[in-house]
Amino acid sequence: MMMSHSRGHRAPPGRIAYVGGRYIAHGEASVHIEDRGLQFADSVYEVCAVQGGRVMDEAPHLVRLERSLSELGISMPMVPDALKIVLREVARRNYLRDGFLYLQVTRGEATRDHAATDAMHPLLIVTAKRIDPKAIEKRRAAGVAVVTTPENRWGRCDIKSTALLPNVLAKTDAKKRGAYEAWFVDANGFVTEGSSTNAWIVTADGHAVTRALHDNILPGVTRSVALRAAADVAIEERAFSLEEAYTAREAFLTSATGGVMPVITIDGRKVGEGKPGPVAARLQALYRDLSQKESMA
Ligand SMILES: Cc1ncc(COP(=O)(O)O)c(C=O)c1O
Repeated sequence: MMMSHSRGHRAPPGRIAYVGGRYIAHGEASVHIEDRGLQFADSVYEVCAVQGGRVMDEAPHLVRLERSLSELGISMPMVPDALKIVLREVARRNYLRDGFLYLQVTRGEATRDHAATDAMHPLLIVTAKRIDPKAIEKRRAAGVAVVTTPENRWGRCDIKSTALLPNVLAKTDAKKRGAYEAWFVDANGFVTEGSSTNAWIVTADGHAVTRALHDNILPGVTRSVALRAAADVAIEERAFSLEEAYTAREAFLTSATGGVMPVITIDGRKVGEGKPGPVAARLQALYRDLSQKESMA
């Protein structure tokens, strides 16, 4: 086995990736230097949670993938049912019970030229990552810190593109400042979303507030399943300002990687009593139940 590379962080032996039609040792998997994903971030991605061997919220993730691709004029690398088989096979080959599946579609390989053509063949990459679900539950019980940063992204944040430099810089800065997530704040003082999560607050009368989709944010799958699951939780889909967030009763994040995750401080200020609140806990339970119901193996 050829596993002892000196380059960067290597996966543990036995990890398998899928790239361009082949299942291959993770450490040996590669793309061409003129792949447009590498050259131009001309590519999109999805991240699905796997719980107890089940791919969670798979259908809406694949719908969003298809939409991102179609907005960019990239064709689907295969039909959704075939994609599901590849996802399952990557999970199976990695003995993945709890973790994440990452899938990326690039526009493909071509001699470097900004202009894309219809003749390009999309490249599909799928990788698996194991996680300890207890670590996420521990984080959920403790709550997380958020810091804010000026919104500096483009006007098509609805597309789940791998052009993530603003998100990368915001999250890196947040980590340096001891926080878990960064919230982007637009020129009018309104919170847009996190670097890899949707943003929510809870008003004094217990309503859960999250920005509306037409306001240049990613249509989060967890956000949408949580909204459908909300039942007895009152919802307001509207923009909220950073000032409103500072004085909110609760705040939380949603994402495939963390579900509903309570926020206990924003820019070092306590949210509510500075501990996870009941609305976030209720929405997490409702989200988990609906997601499990809809994500049968
Ligand atoms: C910018 C951004 N917003 C929101 C989310 C949450 O989306 P989802 O719930 O589909 O994971 C993500 C996930 O990666 C993201 O990158």
